[in-house]
Amino acid sequence: MKRVLVTGAAGFIGSHLCDLVLERGTEIVAVDGFTDSYDQQEKRDRARRLSENSRFSLVEGDLANLELDQYLDGVEAVFHLAGRAGVRSSFSDFDKYQSDNVIATRRVIDSIKRHDPSIRLVAASSSSVYGNAPIPFVEDGEVDPVSPYGWSKLEAERMVLDASNDGLSTVALRYFTVYGPRQRPDMGFRKFIKAALSNETIEIYGDGNQSRDFTYVRDIVEATLAAAEAKESGLAINVGGGSIVTIRRVLELISHQLGRDIDVSFGPFAKGDVMHTGADLSLARRVLNYNPKYTIEEGIGLEFSYFKELYGDVFADNRAVEVLS
Ligand SMILES: NC(=O)c1ccc[n+]([C@@H]2O[C@H](COP(=O)([O-])OP(=O)(O)OC[C@H]3O[C@@H](n4cnc5c(N)ncnc54)[C@H](O)[C@@H]3O)[C@@H](O)[C@H]2O)c1
Repeated sequence: MKRVLVTGAAGFIGSHLCDLVLERGTEIVAVDGFTDSYDQQEKRDRARRLSENSRFSLVEGDLANLELDQYLDGVEAVFHLAGRAGVRSSFSDFDKYQSDNVIATRRVIDSIKRHDPSIRLVAASSSSVYGNAPIPFVEDGEVDPVSPYGWSKLEAERMVLDASNDGLSTVALRYFTVYGPRQRPDMGFRKFIKAALSNETIEIYGDGNQSRDFTYVRDIVEATLAAAEAKESGLAINVGGGSIVTIRRVLELISHQLGRDIDVSFGPFAKGDVMHTGADLSLARRVLNYNPKYTIEEGIGLEFSYFKELYGDVFADNRAVEVLS
């Protein structure tokens, strides 16, 4: 591919996808609204670093009202990763989830339809569409979201898949809990690592026996790129990491990285959290030739090193809590 458009390019996963696309020599038109979902400076720093590459150009705007058509000239694929992620705040920020996940996706689809229906659309969906469905989660099995976030991703995904009935070439990827360097600040691993480095107590929602199919970010973006080249359309495809582990095991691995015990407290389960997730990867193997490469041990090591370097200087003195809280 010569030129692609990436929405949510300044985000955690979007910025990794842009790194990979640029490595392959492809030009990127990037779109991001630098929304208030978390520290905007963190997103701007990612975009600034990517802008150092002459093949990367940035459009700043909210997809819920941006005229996207004008940026689609010469674009072969749109990677639609923009969205409002995270389960917990979706109970209070319902309108923002609707706008960033549902309305924005509708407008991306309509722009492609109007401008050039041959453009391939690869959209980020989520394992949250499954809710408490039986494990392993299979794409044509039950979906049962248990949070406004999960509902909004399911609605967006259905619009993406339905567009293939109108002649678009589309695929929706159901990402399973993604981790690695540059992870969002509201996500578990990053919060645990930050607390561990600053000798604070790690607070866990629930008893720590809940398990997740954690997926290293490089595996996610490799699968995402492969989805642009695949021929199949109108499919939702699981992208899991193949490492289903409990939160207790994650804490052991972080303690191992730190080289000392960590202090943990367990509280009530959070609303909207499911007990277990696990991807059936048969479809991803067949359609995307996908095989996750990173074990949880390797992946946590890489994320730990990244945040240790990022937070290291701050924690070297006593200002840690003040600066980072
Ligand atoms: N991180 C995960 O574990 C995970 C799991 C499943 C699905 N997903 C999905 O993957 C995608 C990326 O997630 P992430 O963790 O990188 O999140 P992120 O918040 O780091 O990135 C999303 C980016 O999209 C941008 N954005 C949001 N709404 C926008 C709008 N209306 N217009 C323009 N830009 C907008 C944000 O500013 C942000 O930079 C999301 O769609 C999310 O729902 C993520």
